[in-house]
Amino acid sequence: MNHAAIRAQFPLLTLCQGDYPLCYLDTAATAQKPECVIAAMDNYYRQQNANVHRGSYQLSASATSAVEAVRDQLVSFINACARQEIIFTHGTTESLNLLAYGLTPHLTAGDVILVDSAAHHANLVPWQQLALRTGAIVEPIALDSQQRLNIEAFKSQLARNPKLVALSHVSNVLGTVNDVAQLCQLAKHAGAITVVDGAQAIAHLNVDVQTIGCDFYAFSGHKMYGPTGVGVLWGKLSELEQLTPMLTGGEMIKTVSFSGTTFGALPHRLEAGTPPIAEIIGLGAALEFLKQHANNDSHAHEQHMLQLLQQGLAQLPEIELYGAHSDNCGAVAFNVRGEHHQDIGALLDQQGVAIRCGHHCAMPLMELLQLSGCCRASIGIYTNEQDIQQFLAALKQALELLNEDF
Ligand SMILES: Cc1ncc(COP(=O)(O)O)c(C=O)c1O
Repeated sequence: MNHAAIRAQFPLLTLCQGDYPLCYLDTAATAQKPECVIAAMDNYYRQQNANVHRGSYQLSASATSAVEAVRDQLVSFINACARQEIIFTHGTTESLNLLAYGLTPHLTAGDVILVDSAAHHANLVPWQQLALRTGAIVEPIALDSQQRLNIEAFKSQLARNPKLVALSHVSNVLGTVNDVAQLCQLAKHAGAITVVDGAQAIAHLNVDVQTIGCDFYAFSGHKMYGPTGVGVLWGKLSELEQLTPMLTGGEMIKTVSFSGTTFGALPHRLEAGTPPIAEIIGLGAALEFLKQHANNDSHAHEQHMLQLLQQGLAQLPEIELYGAHSDNCGAVAFNVRGEHHQDIGALLDQQGVAIRCGHHCAMPLMELLQLSGCCRASIGIYTNEQDIQQFLAALKQALELLNEDF
């Protein structure tokens, strides 16, 4: 299928904003949804709506099979070893909180937790909370002058035998890609539990958790063309078995009496309560969409779009680019010298262009870059050259306006 046909599957992208076609460059915040995802959720509510894992009737059995089929799809999508390794959550944030809570009994005072300096708050704050509960110490993994993780500094930090290492696969601000396989290998060698936040990688890279060699990998459905409200925590079975459930209640138990409760087996032990059924089914449709359309061609297309963005921005003398490399993925971060990032966002919005401005839930990275915030343009499988041209033309128009003498 050619690229135009892929884009045509996203109804929202045909919208206009005033006189302008909508130019959506905020896929890193959330991706647009193809028809198949919208239809799958619509169909669930019209044809299948019932609670899962508990009904003795056909409708419930059908909803249960639909949900469990998505678990199987996920196994092959990320090359997990077993379906019990796939834990449904409501998103990356919940996945990482569930993990940090679940590890509480395994950390003690003085244990070191190393966290990527560019990490999204969702991959930092839960570790800080874990540290508060246990007396562990959270330390940043430094970036080099190119805003990539500094491997030499990391190696020397590993000499202290950290208990846990938390990495981003792809930075949500800069789009830099970490060699998580190499980093995890080094961390495992030092005896650390390895956690990778894959929220920004899952839709753009081929993620193979066995090749990466981490212990845990977290991601959200809505960043991979699926619905909001569903995500995944993947973990090695032996590691997941160690986690204390963060949520307790229905679905996750084996026996309950007033004298005590025993927990059920994985994966349900970590999935208390009614899961987001329609959202899981929508995620299944998104996985099928990606299986059909995400391939070497689409990856090359996305890479081309990102490079057009980087090159177009680099040609404007007023623009300061951050950590822009040709092998980045999905996003480019920049500022207009002397202008506030929110003003740039507002001027682009007036011309139909949607980008994200602010600290991007990465305040420690902003502090490192000595910025109060920045603009971020991010792309998806549907982004085309017209989007890039519209964005660059709107930015030039904004610059002209800002340069006018009043
Ligand atoms: C790298 C990264 N991690 C975690 C998250 C949090 O994801 P969610 O809000 O879906 O839980 C995001 C969201 O932007 C992200 O970009």
